[in-house]
Amino acid sequence: MPGARFALIVILLAFLVPTAWGEENSCVSCHSNPTVIQSLPSQQTYYFAEWSASVHATNGITCDKCMGGDATKKEKELAHAAMKRASDPASPVYYKNIPETCGRCHQAQYTNFTQSLHYQRLKAEKLGPECVTCHGSVGVKKVDAIQISKKCSSVCHNEIMGIKPTKPAEAREILTRAEEATAKIAQAQVMVGVGRKGGEDMTKAEEALKEASIQLKHSTGIWHRFDLDAYRNEVKGASDLADLGFNLARDALLKEKKEDTTVYKIAIALLVIILLAAVFVLRKK
Ligand code: HEC
Ligand code: HEC
Ligand code: HEC
Repeated sequence: MPGARFALIVILLAFLVPTAWGEENSCVSCHSNPTVIQSLPSQQTYYFAEWSASVHATNGITCDKCMGGDATKKEKELAHAAMKRASDPASPVYYKNIPETCGRCHQAQYTNFTQSLHYQRLKAEKLGPECVTCHGSVGVKKVDAIQISKKCSSVCHNEIMGIKPTKPAEAREILTRAEEATAKIAQAQVMVGVGRKGGEDMTKAEEALKEASIQLKHSTGIWHRFDLDAYRNEVKGASDLADLGFNLARDALLKEKKEDTTVYKIAIALLVIILLAAVFVLRKK
């Protein structure tokens, strides 16, 4: 019975929504109220659930940060008073204004995005993706190489539309490389931890890995310029640094192992000498 399932979701939500922002933020406290949720058209219920489970919710980025309105007012009318409909060109969530709205907090992505052809098209011809096209709205998500290449080719960059149909595959290849570099950094960091526990000097590996992470983060900004040659270069730099860090970490660990066996060999040699000496002394007696 969909009604019962709906009621269950509503009750669960009411418990799950941490009271931390519920107390001070009226949008959250009122919109997490089961009676209010039930009175809304179902889509808005999903919006609230999506937001609750998103990285924005866990970081305290509440509805009003993008939607507007006054989250200090407990009454619906007062809270909503300054909020505009998404179809209103003056609304911060009107699609053409999305880059500016998200860009208040995601500056690197925004600054690079304003230099893209996508941004120009969005502003001039109302054609072109904005942040929400790729990341979703209330339930913002990271997007990976496979998801994004599918999205780009299904919406615009395909043979039928005739808009640069080779771009999705190219983007996917570079994004995959960036993902591999991320994975490599994570693995190398584990080795650094192990090495440090063993008393090894892992400083060089650590430095290279730190630089690799910075460069990778920088490349995510550059991605939003949608200039794939520039992005490819950035990712290559980050990927080379990740390789360097990985190799340094591995070498430091292997060195430790080598020293271990040397100590072991010396111990055995000493033991053999002592035994031989003992045999020699005993035979003399
Ligand atoms: C005291 C309760 C209450 C508070 C506080 C409140 N809302 Fe609402 N909101 C509602 C109700 C009820 C609706 C359903 C439509 C209506 O009754 O106006 C709604 C509807 C909405 C809608 C859909 C609007 C539409 O017409 O399609 C949005 C978006 C929204 N609220 C955002 C917010 C934001 C952002 C805040 C905080 C600044 C906020 N609300 C504060 C109760 C509240
Ligand atoms: C008031 C500040 C603020 C606004 C406005 C904002 N964000 Fe965020 N966003 C954050 C914070 C804080 C985080 C979590 C820390 C981080 O990853 O930087 C975050 C995380 C993200 C992430 C990473 C998700 C993940 O899983 O790591 C994406 C993608 C994102 N936001 C997209 C958007 C989009 C799209 C918009 C506009 C619709 C937007 N943000 C508006 C502050 C904001
Ligand atoms: C065409 C799709 C697309 C558009 C448009 C887009 N992004 Fe992204 N975004 C991505 C992809 C793909 C990544 C991962 C890039 C990487 O790993 O280098 C990403 C990464 C991010 C991240 C970092 C999350 C993480 O992986 O740690 C944030 C934050 C973000 N984007 C915000 C924005 C904002 C803000 C806008 C609008 C100004 C925007 N994005 C527009 C596809 C897009």
